[in-house]
Amino acid sequence: MRRKLVVGNWKMFGRLMKNQALLQGVSEGVRQLKGADFAVCVPYPYLAQAQSMLQGGNVSWGAQNLSQFEEGAYTGEVASGMLVDFACSYAIIGHSERRALYGESDEIVAQKFAAAQQAGLTPILCVGETLAERESGVTEAVVARQLDAVIEGFGVAALARAVVAYEPVWAIGTGKTASPEQAQAVHAFIRQRMAKHDARVAENLCLLYGGSVKAGNAAELFAMPDIDGGLIGGASLVVDDFVAICRAAQQ
Ligand code: 13P
Repeated sequence: MRRKLVVGNWKMFGRLMKNQALLQGVSEGVRQLKGADFAVCVPYPYLAQAQSMLQGGNVSWGAQNLSQFEEGAYTGEVASGMLVDFACSYAIIGHSERRALYGESDEIVAQKFAAAQQAGLTPILCVGETLAERESGVTEAVVARQLDAVIEGFGVAALARAVVAYEPVWAIGTGKTASPEQAQAVHAFIRQRMAKHDARVAENLCLLYGGSVKAGNAAELFAMPDIDGGLIGGASLVVDDFVAICRAAQQ
Protein backbone atom coordinates (compact mmCIF):
# COMPACT_ATOMS: atom_id res chain seq x y z
CA MET A 1 0.00 0.00 0.00
CA ARG A 2 1.21 3.48 -0.85
CA ARG A 3 2.18 5.69 2.07
CA LYS A 4 0.67 9.14 2.24
CA LEU A 5 2.90 12.21 2.01
CA VAL A 6 2.18 15.83 2.95
CA VAL A 7 4.61 18.50 1.73
CA GLY A 8 4.52 22.19 2.62
CA ASN A 9 5.60 24.60 -0.11
CA TRP A 10 6.42 27.83 1.70
CA LYS A 11 6.96 29.68 -1.61
CA MET A 12 8.67 33.06 -1.00
CA PHE A 13 7.48 33.46 2.56
CA GLY A 14 9.40 33.37 5.83
CA ARG A 15 11.82 35.19 8.09
CA LEU A 16 14.29 33.64 10.54
CA MET A 17 12.23 34.41 13.64
CA LYS A 18 8.91 33.37 12.16
CA ASN A 19 10.37 30.19 10.69
CA GLN A 20 11.65 29.17 14.08
CA ALA A 21 8.16 29.10 15.57
CA LEU A 22 6.71 27.43 12.46
CA LEU A 23 9.36 24.71 12.22
CA GLN A 24 9.20 24.02 15.93
CA GLY A 25 5.41 23.90 15.94
CA VAL A 26 5.24 21.57 12.94
CA SER A 27 8.00 19.34 14.21
CA GLU A 28 6.30 18.94 17.61
CA GLY A 29 2.82 18.75 16.14
CA VAL A 30 3.52 15.78 13.89
CA ARG A 31 6.02 13.97 16.12
CA GLN A 32 3.46 11.36 17.18
CA LEU A 33 2.07 10.84 13.67
CA LYS A 34 3.59 7.64 12.34
CA GLY A 35 1.22 6.69 9.53
CA ALA A 36 2.42 9.11 6.85
CA ASP A 37 5.47 11.08 5.68
CA PHE A 38 5.90 14.84 6.02
CA ALA A 39 8.18 17.49 4.54
CA VAL A 40 8.58 21.24 4.10
CA CYS A 41 10.15 22.93 1.08
CA VAL A 42 11.60 26.22 2.26
CA PRO A 43 13.35 29.14 0.51
CA TYR A 44 17.05 28.42 -0.12
CA PRO A 45 18.43 30.76 2.58
CA TYR A 46 16.52 28.86 5.25
CA LEU A 47 17.66 25.35 4.36
CA ALA A 48 20.31 25.43 7.09
CA GLN A 49 17.70 26.53 9.60
CA ALA A 50 15.32 23.77 8.51
CA GLN A 51 18.13 21.23 8.72
CA SER A 52 19.21 22.24 12.20
CA MET A 53 15.66 22.38 13.55
CA LEU A 54 14.20 19.28 11.86
CA GLN A 55 17.03 16.75 11.90
CA GLY A 56 16.26 13.74 14.04
CA GLY A 57 12.49 14.27 13.76
CA ASN A 58 9.94 12.96 11.30
CA VAL A 59 9.68 16.01 9.04
CA SER A 60 12.00 16.04 6.01
CA TRP A 61 12.96 19.20 4.15
CA GLY A 62 13.75 20.30 0.66
CA ALA A 63 13.91 23.12 -1.89
CA GLN A 64 11.39 24.62 -4.28
CA ASN A 65 13.59 24.64 -7.37
CA LEU A 66 17.14 23.94 -8.51
CA SER A 67 19.38 24.53 -11.50
CA GLN A 68 19.55 21.96 -14.27
CA PHE A 69 23.33 22.50 -14.32
CA GLU A 70 25.84 20.90 -11.98
CA GLU A 71 27.98 24.01 -11.53
CA GLY A 72 29.32 26.92 -13.52
CA ALA A 73 28.85 30.57 -14.39
CA TYR A 74 25.11 30.74 -13.68
CA THR A 75 24.69 33.80 -11.48
CA GLY A 76 21.90 33.47 -8.95
CA GLU A 77 21.30 29.76 -9.50
CA VAL A 78 21.50 26.92 -6.97
CA ALA A 79 22.81 23.47 -7.90
CA SER A 80 21.47 20.10 -6.79
CA GLY A 81 24.75 19.30 -5.02
CA MET A 82 24.30 22.40 -2.87
CA LEU A 83 20.91 21.11 -1.74
CA VAL A 84 22.53 17.80 -0.85
CA ASP A 85 25.02 19.71 1.34
CA PHE A 86 22.03 20.71 3.47
CA ALA A 87 20.65 17.14 3.57
CA CYS A 88 17.57 17.96 1.50
CA SER A 89 15.33 15.03 0.63
CA TYR A 90 13.10 16.74 -1.94
CA ALA A 91 13.12 19.39 -4.64
CA ILE A 92 9.92 20.72 -6.17
CA ILE A 93 10.32 20.75 -9.95
CA GLY A 94 8.22 22.58 -12.53
CA HIS A 95 5.82 24.34 -10.19
CA SER A 96 3.29 26.28 -12.27
CA GLU A 97 4.66 29.54 -10.85
CA ARG A 98 8.10 28.64 -12.23
CA ARG A 99 6.60 27.65 -15.56
CA ALA A 100 4.46 30.79 -15.86
CA LEU A 101 6.66 33.47 -14.27
CA TYR A 102 10.15 32.20 -15.12
CA GLY A 103 9.51 30.61 -18.48
CA GLU A 104 10.38 27.04 -17.52
CA SER A 105 9.52 24.87 -20.50
CA ASP A 106 8.72 21.16 -20.34
CA GLU A 107 12.26 20.55 -21.58
CA ILE A 108 13.90 22.60 -18.82
CA VAL A 109 11.63 20.96 -16.24
CA ALA A 110 12.74 17.54 -17.49
CA GLN A 111 16.41 18.57 -17.21
CA LYS A 112 15.84 19.80 -13.64
CA PHE A 113 14.05 16.56 -12.81
CA ALA A 114 17.10 14.60 -13.96
CA ALA A 115 19.50 16.90 -12.10
CA ALA A 116 17.58 16.32 -8.86
CA GLN A 117 17.59 12.55 -9.27
CA GLN A 118 21.25 12.38 -10.21
CA ALA A 119 22.08 14.13 -6.95
CA GLY A 120 19.95 11.67 -4.97
CA LEU A 121 17.09 14.07 -4.30
CA THR A 122 13.47 13.02 -4.80
CA PRO A 123 11.90 15.35 -7.37
CA ILE A 124 8.32 16.45 -6.78
CA LEU A 125 7.22 16.99 -10.37
CA CYS A 126 4.32 19.44 -10.66
CA VAL A 127 1.80 19.21 -13.47
CA GLY A 128 -1.56 20.88 -14.03
CA GLU A 129 -3.76 22.85 -16.38
CA THR A 130 -4.84 26.49 -16.38
CA LEU A 131 -8.50 27.49 -16.16
CA ALA A 132 -8.59 28.26 -19.90
CA GLU A 133 -7.16 24.81 -20.65
CA ARG A 134 -9.71 23.11 -18.40
CA GLU A 135 -12.56 25.03 -19.95
CA SER A 136 -11.44 24.12 -23.44
CA GLY A 137 -11.32 20.44 -22.49
CA VAL A 138 -7.58 19.84 -22.79
CA THR A 139 -6.75 19.05 -19.14
CA GLU A 140 -5.65 15.49 -19.89
CA ALA A 141 -3.65 16.52 -22.95
CA VAL A 142 -1.77 19.17 -20.96
CA VAL A 143 -0.97 16.85 -18.07
CA ALA A 144 0.07 14.10 -20.49
CA ARG A 145 2.42 16.46 -22.33
CA GLN A 146 4.02 17.60 -19.07
CA LEU A 147 4.58 14.00 -17.94
CA ASP A 148 5.75 12.80 -21.33
CA ALA A 149 8.58 15.35 -21.31
CA VAL A 150 10.10 13.40 -18.42
CA ILE A 151 9.14 9.90 -19.58
CA GLU A 152 10.48 10.44 -23.10
CA GLY A 153 13.72 11.87 -21.79
CA PHE A 154 14.50 9.43 -18.99
CA GLY A 155 12.08 6.51 -19.20
CA VAL A 156 9.18 5.66 -16.97
CA ALA A 157 11.58 4.03 -14.49
CA ALA A 158 12.68 7.57 -13.52
CA LEU A 159 9.25 8.06 -11.99
CA ALA A 160 9.83 5.15 -9.62
CA ARG A 161 12.05 7.51 -7.62
CA ALA A 162 9.85 10.57 -7.81
CA VAL A 163 6.66 12.14 -6.57
CA VAL A 164 4.14 13.72 -8.95
CA ALA A 165 1.92 16.59 -7.81
CA TYR A 166 -1.23 17.44 -9.72
CA GLU A 167 -1.83 21.14 -9.15
CA PRO A 168 -4.55 22.70 -11.28
CA VAL A 169 -3.38 26.29 -11.77
CA TRP A 170 -6.89 27.65 -11.18
CA ALA A 171 -6.92 26.12 -7.70
CA ILE A 172 -3.57 27.52 -6.53
CA GLY A 173 -3.88 30.32 -3.99
CA THR A 174 -7.45 30.99 -5.09
CA GLY A 175 -9.36 29.22 -2.32
CA LYS A 176 -11.07 27.31 -5.14
CA THR A 177 -10.12 23.70 -4.44
CA ALA A 178 -10.72 21.04 -7.06
CA SER A 179 -13.51 18.81 -5.79
CA PRO A 180 -12.33 15.40 -4.61
CA GLU A 181 -13.98 13.92 -7.73
CA GLN A 182 -12.29 16.40 -10.09
CA ALA A 183 -8.90 15.74 -8.54
CA GLN A 184 -9.42 11.98 -8.43
CA ALA A 185 -10.33 11.93 -12.13
CA VAL A 186 -7.01 13.51 -13.14
CA HIS A 187 -5.03 11.39 -10.67
CA ALA A 188 -6.61 8.25 -12.10
CA PHE A 189 -5.77 9.46 -15.60
CA ILE A 190 -2.12 9.99 -14.62
CA ARG A 191 -1.87 6.56 -13.01
CA GLN A 192 -3.53 4.82 -15.95
CA ARG A 193 -1.21 6.57 -18.37
CA MET A 194 1.81 5.42 -16.36
CA ALA A 195 0.42 1.91 -16.21
CA LYS A 196 0.57 1.70 -19.99
CA HIS A 197 4.35 2.00 -19.64
CA ASP A 198 4.87 0.08 -16.41
CA ALA A 199 2.11 -1.20 -14.13
CA ARG A 200 4.37 -1.48 -11.08
CA VAL A 201 5.70 2.06 -11.34
CA ALA A 202 2.11 3.30 -11.75
CA GLU A 203 0.86 1.37 -8.75
CA ASN A 204 3.65 2.62 -6.48
CA LEU A 205 3.72 6.23 -7.70
CA CYS A 206 3.02 8.77 -4.95
CA LEU A 207 0.56 11.25 -6.47
CA LEU A 208 -0.09 14.44 -4.50
CA TYR A 209 -2.88 16.93 -5.00
CA GLY A 210 -2.13 20.65 -4.60
CA GLY A 211 -4.32 23.73 -4.82
CA SER A 212 -6.08 25.33 -1.84
CA VAL A 213 -5.80 22.27 0.40
CA LYS A 214 -6.96 23.34 3.86
CA ALA A 215 -7.55 21.69 7.22
CA GLY A 216 -11.24 21.51 6.35
CA ASN A 217 -10.99 19.75 2.97
CA ALA A 218 -7.84 17.62 3.31
CA ALA A 219 -9.51 14.48 4.65
CA GLU A 220 -12.03 14.20 1.82
CA LEU A 221 -9.32 14.74 -0.80
CA PHE A 222 -6.94 12.23 0.82
CA ALA A 223 -9.75 9.66 1.00
CA MET A 224 -9.83 9.37 -2.79
CA PRO A 225 -8.20 6.17 -4.07
CA ASP A 226 -5.54 7.82 -6.26
CA ILE A 227 -4.70 10.80 -4.03
CA ASP A 228 -1.68 9.97 -1.90
CA GLY A 229 -1.37 13.24 -0.02
CA GLY A 230 -0.96 16.93 -0.69
CA LEU A 231 1.36 19.75 -1.70
CA ILE A 232 0.30 22.61 0.53
CA GLY A 233 0.93 26.31 -0.08
CA GLY A 234 -0.75 28.91 2.14
CA ALA A 235 -1.88 26.49 4.83
CA SER A 236 1.69 25.24 5.33
CA LEU A 237 2.59 28.61 6.86
CA VAL A 238 0.20 28.17 9.81
CA VAL A 239 1.24 25.56 12.38
CA ASP A 240 -2.24 24.41 13.38
CA ASP A 241 -3.48 24.22 9.79
CA PHE A 242 -0.49 22.30 8.50
CA VAL A 243 -0.52 19.89 11.45
CA ALA A 244 -4.25 19.29 10.94
CA ILE A 245 -3.62 18.47 7.27
CA CYS A 246 -0.81 16.11 8.27
CA ARG A 247 -3.17 14.44 10.72
CA ALA A 248 -5.74 13.99 7.94
CA ALA A 249 -3.15 11.96 6.02
CA GLN A 250 -2.79 9.44 8.82
CA GLN A 251 -3.89 5.96 7.79
P1 13P B 1 -2.11 26.92 -2.11
O1 13P B 1 -2.23 25.76 -1.16
O2 13P B 1 -1.77 28.21 -1.43
O3 13P B 1 -3.29 27.01 -3.04
O4 13P B 1 -0.84 26.61 -3.04
C1 13P B 1 -0.73 25.37 -3.66
C2 13P B 1 0.61 25.24 -4.25
O5 13P B 1 0.96 25.90 -5.20
C3 13P B 1 1.55 24.30 -3.61
O6 13P B 1 2.67 24.10 -4.40
